[in-house]
Amino acid sequence: MGPQPLGQATRLSAVPPPLVVENLTFSWPGGSSALQACSLRIERPGLWMLVGSNGSGKSTLLRLIAGLLQPSGGAIHSELKPALVFQNPDHQLLLPSCASDLQLGLPEHLSAVQRLARIEGALEQVGLDGFAGRPIHTLSGGQKQRLAIAGALATDAQLLLVDEPTALLDPTSQQEVIALIRRLCSREQAPLTALWITHRLEELDHCDAAARMDAGRIGPWQSGAVLRAGLTPLPGGRAKR
Ligand SMILES: Nc1ncnc2c1ncn2[C@@H]1O[C@H](COP(=O)(O)OP(=O)(O)OP(=O)(O)O)[C@@H](O)[C@H]1O
Ligand SMILES: [Mg+2]
Repeated sequence: MGPQPLGQATRLSAVPPPLVVENLTFSWPGGSSALQACSLRIERPGLWMLVGSNGSGKSTLLRLIAGLLQPSGGAIHSELKPALVFQNPDHQLLLPSCASDLQLGLPEHLSAVQRLARIEGALEQVGLDGFAGRPIHTLSGGQKQRLAIAGALATDAQLLLVDEPTALLDPTSQQEVIALIRRLCSREQAPLTALWITHRLEELDHCDAAARMDAGRIGPWQSGAVLRAGLTPLPGGRAKR
């Protein structure tokens, strides 16, 4: 008997989810536990946000997913290339001009022409067309953050791990960075997956879903608006649980 034609459902389910984190455990060398049986499942590309109090393990989780730290237990399943984007772009932009910085992350086998095309394409995608020769110190904070995102795009990353990327930005630059990631995660062709950590609750309005992280564990996905409403302080300053 020949192969059966695949039904739509079968074909869809054959695409692995962008990210699955199962029962992840991590302790710092001193023995303090940062994550305990931490699980998270992202089923499709989009903008997914995490909120949680200081020290709840959000940044540690992103570093584990990026492969910068090794878990002591559990598993991370993702076929996507990850890239971290930090709160302070000055901590990740290393070379003096936009183009020279983007060069750093490119695969070595590319020709000079391919490298230039890759750099110009990445700059264009983040709205920094024509900025290749610009010295980085002349960029605004928002432009630097968009350049850091261009760095991720230039390396062909498909999983953006963004750790409070707008914390140091003014409201206009904040909006630009959100709009940019939103666009990259909703585009028709090859949409990206972003896991975005925020303390700015208004950002929850832009996500596909959000979850709360508490003491090294993550709660269920909810709509950003529902999660935000649950976190709004009650009159008198008490946070609703
Ligand atoms: N390099 C480190 N060495 C030891 N402990 C650390 C280190 N980095 C973080 N921790 C601890 O791990 C726990 C989780 O920290 P993490 O930075 O992941 O939290 P977070 O949710 O990102 O907090 P914040 O909202 O303040 O950024 C905290 O108890 C923190 O003190
Ligand atoms: Mg953090």
